Amino acid sequence: MQNINFSNKKALVRVDFNVPLDKKTFAITDDTRIRAAIPTIKYILDQGGSAILMSHLGRPDEKLLPDGSIDVARFTMNHTVAHTAELLGVPVLFCEEFVGPKAAAMAAALQPGQVLILENTRFLKGEGKGDVELAKTLASYGDIYINDAFGSAHRAHASTTTVAQFFSAENKGFGFLMKAELDNADRVLNNPERPLTAIVGGAKVSDKILLLDRMLDYVDNLIIGGGMAYTFVKAQGGQIGNSLCEDDRLELANQLVAKAQAKGVKLLLPEDSLVADAFSNDANRKVVASNVIEPGWMGLDVGEKACAEFSATILNSKTLLWNGPMGVFEFENFAKGTQTIAESVAKATANGAFSLVGGGDSVAAVNQMGLADEVSYVSTGGGAMLELLEGKVLPGVKAIKE
Ligand code: 3PG
Ligand code: MG
Repeated sequence: MQNINFSNKKALVRVDFNVPLDKKTFAITDDTRIRAAIPTIKYILDQGGSAILMSHLGRPDEKLLPDGSIDVARFTMNHTVAHTAELLGVPVLFCEEFVGPKAAAMAAALQPGQVLILENTRFLKGEGKGDVELAKTLASYGDIYINDAFGSAHRAHASTTTVAQFFSAENKGFGFLMKAELDNADRVLNNPERPLTAIVGGAKVSDKILLLDRMLDYVDNLIIGGGMAYTFVKAQGGQIGNSLCEDDRLELANQLVAKAQAKGVKLLLPEDSLVADAFSNDANRKVVASNVIEPGWMGLDVGEKACAEFSATILNSKTLLWNGPMGVFEFENFAKGTQTIAESVAKATANGAFSLVGGGDSVAAVNQMGLADEVSYVSTGGGAMLELLEGKVLPGVKAIKE
């Protein structure tokens, strides 16, 4: 976007203001994504332009009111207006329409230095379908299109992708957040300093099959923790008691282990686990080897030996990629594994390693542990970062480059 002249121009900016809200008051509970887009908006205003912001908030189509209409009170972008104005330090206008006569009139009347937020892009069905007519009308509101919505770049929607085709190459570009996200992912995917270690956790193998498979093509070490580790332990012949397991993925787990061996990737599973006799913070707990978990017990966190082994590998790495927690860190008694990994990643970073944390839960973990400032980069994308690390070309990125 630095090559674009914004003076007296209207910039249509796709942001990802899909932030978590308090269920009752609709107050923003984490404003990370809004703060992350502020530099782009400020830059446009400083250059003498105006900004028309568009974003989705939640999935209104999946939570319709009993009469089949949209729950506007819950999903309106208006929930983000006051806070955006506060962060920008300028008033922000709101239009209760995404596309239509009111939106067109407000966009047309916008003056340099002004900011307008349009209503939730997902209030119109055409958004999710990438509708061309919708995108064309939308495009008529602005002179320039900027995509700064990294978190939504994996969606081929009207406002993230289709709209870009109505702007010439000189009049469209990435915002600063999008650029930073792509550059940081690039640093891991292309020419990383080695050893490169990926730490993958979370409940299910099935969510991350493609990720694990692709990672084996470019990492030196792959640490697997969290619930998904037990599918691997069982596949290798271990007893996992009542731990999470996807029985239909056992063969796949073994294939991944074989691929790691063939590629010379060191695959680390938790040697021991902190097991519980119920899925509860107050359950009885003990540390056992991960492959001899008795019936009635389940692994809810990695054990001490696993922590030590994982940490040693992390501290020995020059590039780190972390996606997914090591255990049920929402339960205080089962947060130690995730905490240890977060601290080790922070320590390795202090020693000069480059660390990228991506994926909703691991981001929540580093935030909860107060370590977000001690890793190199925390991604604002969940699904988008995952798809990027899987080696996919994101539609929102492609649309700008074409
Ligand atoms: C997200 O939070 O994942 C992005 O904002 C995209 O939202 P979606 O998953 O509902 O498409
Ligand atoms: Mg998502």
